[in-house]
Amino acid sequence: MESIKMKKSSQVASIFDIAKDTVLFLLLSCYYLLESLFWTLVPNALRPMKSLEGDVVLVTGGGGGVGRQLAVKLARLGAKVVIWDVNEQSLRKTSDTVKDEGYHISSYVVDLADRNAVYETAERVKREVGKVDVLINNAGVVFGETLLELNDTAIETTYKVNILSHYWTVKAFLPDMIKTKKGHIVTVSSVAGLLGTYRCTDYSATKFATVGFHESLYTEIRAHGHSTVHATLVCPYYINTGMFDGVTPRLMPMLEPDYVAETMIDSIRKNEVNCVMPGSVRYLLPLKCLLPAKMCWDLMHRVMKGPQSMMELRKKTQAA
Ligand SMILES: NC(=O)c1ccc[n+]([C@@H]2O[C@H](COP(=O)([O-])OP(=O)(O)OC[C@H]3O[C@@H](n4cnc5c(N)ncnc54)[C@H](O)[C@@H]3O)[C@@H](O)[C@H]2O)c1
Repeated sequence: MESIKMKKSSQVASIFDIAKDTVLFLLLSCYYLLESLFWTLVPNALRPMKSLEGDVVLVTGGGGGVGRQLAVKLARLGAKVVIWDVNEQSLRKTSDTVKDEGYHISSYVVDLADRNAVYETAERVKREVGKVDVLINNAGVVFGETLLELNDTAIETTYKVNILSHYWTVKAFLPDMIKTKKGHIVTVSSVAGLLGTYRCTDYSATKFATVGFHESLYTEIRAHGHSTVHATLVCPYYINTGMFDGVTPRLMPMLEPDYVAETMIDSIRKNEVNCVMPGSVRYLLPLKCLLPAKMCWDLMHRVMKGPQSMMELRKKTQAA
């Protein structure tokens, strides 16, 4: 009898606890929604943005389209820019562009598909430049073939560069960010990481993985109380860098790399958790879960002509 009474009172306490937390959550949600609406309406020029002056900012894939734009813009903001790339020539081109403007930049040739090379280069950066404050995992590859045309090495390369390298770089740099109570991990994904894309079974899958990586990492950082270490997920639509050469999207033109880099830096400086470009894409995404699958396919195939435009993607050389 006594134990039944105790069980009942503990059940009542637990229901009371859930009710209390729910009410608190609802009250806080009103505040979060108003806060978000307020900051959406305030122009960037009027809102507090974190300064990156003097910060060590590492950009992977810094030799290429968006990476190069990021390097130049970050240097102009006074950051100590470090770029990594597998392509020595394009790395030099970015370095020269930054140096021509009178800024300093450190560059490292590294193949992100090689885990040991990533760890070794990370140690060199720590020794030669210092603690990395902002890590931008930007490098990416796409082969743009259907599953049956993709060779196994190409699939493995896509996974190694587009997602596995994020584990190695974050493991190398996050501990110091936690120790110094200052850091920011930026994960460059794609709209193809939110919506499966034709000729992208490898690319889309790795970009979906980056979304899961960012969201899980974010929960670990928050749950362990490291509130001064930030994480931003960046999901851009097609960008005019040559990565998707030949593709002409039907409804929206490709984004320019200059705009993408600028928006990404603004997002980092605002400590935003998610950055989808263009913002309008965010309103289309829930349709994927809400509408019947046949309707989604018709929207994609008939109206947007997504697969048809990806059929025009110029062939890339697959790793042997
Ligand atoms: N271009 C687009 O349409 C588009 C759209 C959405 C998201 N993205 C993503 O944005 C990021 C930047 O794309 P981008 O258009 O500037 O690409 P890009 O091809 O112009 O540049 C990518 C850079 O990564 C480097 N890289 C490739 N493999 C590497 C490796 N193994 N080790 C080191 N560096 C390597 C390349 O040499 C290149 O300089 C990528 O993650 C990409 O997936 C691109």
